[in-house]
Amino acid sequence: MARFHRLRVAAVDRLTDDSVALTLDVPPHLREEYRHLPGQHLALRRTADGQEIRRTYSICSPAPHGEAPSTLRVGVRLVEGGAFSTYALKEIDLGDELEVMTPAGRFTLPPAPGRYAAIVGGSGITPVLSIVSTLLAREPAARFCLIRSDRTTASTMFLEEVADLKDRYPERFQLVTVLSREEQQAGLPSGRLDQERLAGLLPALLPVEQVDGWFLCGPYGLVEGAERALRGLGVARARIHEEIFHVDAGTAPVVTAPAPAHSTVTARLDGRGGTWPVRLGESLLDTVLRNRADAPYACKGGVCGTCRAFLVSGEVRMDRNFALESEETEAGYVLACQSHPVTETVELDFDR
Ligand code: FES
Repeated sequence: MARFHRLRVAAVDRLTDDSVALTLDVPPHLREEYRHLPGQHLALRRTADGQEIRRTYSICSPAPHGEAPSTLRVGVRLVEGGAFSTYALKEIDLGDELEVMTPAGRFTLPPAPGRYAAIVGGSGITPVLSIVSTLLAREPAARFCLIRSDRTTASTMFLEEVADLKDRYPERFQLVTVLSREEQQAGLPSGRLDQERLAGLLPALLPVEQVDGWFLCGPYGLVEGAERALRGLGVARARIHEEIFHVDAGTAPVVTAPAPAHSTVTARLDGRGGTWPVRLGESLLDTVLRNRADAPYACKGGVCGTCRAFLVSGEVRMDRNFALESEETEAGYVLACQSHPVTETVELDFDR
């Protein structure tokens, strides 16, 4: 069950003009709760002017092996007008305490032998940095190819950390950088990393059919283009893992379906249940939140997956879903923040 705790900021490292890495201290009694897999994220919560805001940020530090982590490091990039990221870049200082949710997310790679690859754009490097560094340190029989796309060298997050991996694992780590707004002295010509370019580039870089897992992370357009390129090259959907960081409004069609005039949701959360009427137009998450303030969520935008619940009975329609894989929706999971009742009664289980 996701919970918030106050963690102290132990370091603020500026990565680029518009991004920082925050290191958080985890006191010994909370360490087990913050044990995480490589690729998971943390939701941070802040209340300002009476309004609560939450944002999820990926953990970039390697996942713990053996002992639970004593620190956690997350990457934060400034989003124009972003309430939390502006605060993080301009105000958060050493010694501050932040409200931090326990780790969540299924964009993960537990270390295993094999060949893996990632295609990332911008801040999409953050979870992949944790994935690669954990994998290469713990699994001598694993190889990783990282293809990253950024605007310029100066705007590239975790430049040093990635260069360090290249020095440490020259045989097993391959790095390919594409800059959209700057020519590089060596390497690939500048330009966008879109579907067409990837379709030509990938077979020249690595044996695509031998890759056991592909990790795509970044803005919606890049992830969608990379998925189409991989599918076009014959890669099975089950080998592709995705995490989308930003979705522009209007990117995905909103599904509409007739809603019943009166409906109720029954929800089980942290072992306790309740049944409440759903107000017209509100999401099932909002209905549950009006009655149970501890319902898990972060983005409320269908992106982070924190509000995932099992649909025990009834039917819902989801406005959009950028978080759940098709196997999860087929198994009966929904995003509560995007779900609206189609039947008069709906039953959700947040504990499953
Ligand atoms: S809260 Fe992020 S997907 Fe629902």
